[in-house]
Amino acid sequence: MKIVIYHASKFGNGAKVAEELRKVIEGKGHQAEVRHIKASKPKELLPAELYVFGSPTRIGKPIGSMRRFLKKATLPSGTRYALFATHGDAVPNKKTGKLPTDEELSRWRRTLPIMDEILKGKGLVKVADKIFLVSGEQMRGHLKEGWQGKTDEFATAILGSA
Ligand SMILES: Cc1cc2nc3c(=O)[nH]c(=O)nc-3n(C[C@H](O)[C@H](O)[C@H](O)COP(=O)(O)O)c2cc1C
Repeated sequence: MKIVIYHASKFGNGAKVAEELRKVIEGKGHQAEVRHIKASKPKELLPAELYVFGSPTRIGKPIGSMRRFLKKATLPSGTRYALFATHGDAVPNKKTGKLPTDEELSRWRRTLPIMDEILKGKGLVKVADKIFLVSGEQMRGHLKEGWQGKTDEFATAILGSA
């Protein structure tokens, strides 16, 4: 299978996930390429049997450049895709010291559902998705431990859909 991974990483975490995903997919005997969306034209996507789109989060949503990219993307109806989002890890509420509940987190984390809605609207078919968490004080942060294992799982889910 030929897979192209488009991402919009700003601080490098999503780029790391994309590269790792490429290696895992290739290690399983498939072809994969990685592109940053800023070096790509949404109406001239590389030919592939399956696309992966990965986005950082801004105020609970996909970064604007990814939203625009997906809206403009031209792909035949029925094309399969997988999604990943990078999110800041949950932190305790400053006043109460409590961590948000799963229900609260899914209400705030809209990156995957918004990307999905755009692509479903074009008749595309989702096969897998995954959230990767970024933690740390600095803006750039770092991928939370276990991210490589999650990337493996993600690759298995993608390839298992073939
Ligand atoms: C201005 C700004 C707003 C952000 N808002 C959110 C947010 O609402 N929810 C969230 O989970 N992460 C948020 N983040 C953290 C990003 O998700 C994180 O920086 C990004 O996923 C890292 O991916 P990258 O290294 O590939 O750019 C925000 C980051 C910035 C800089």
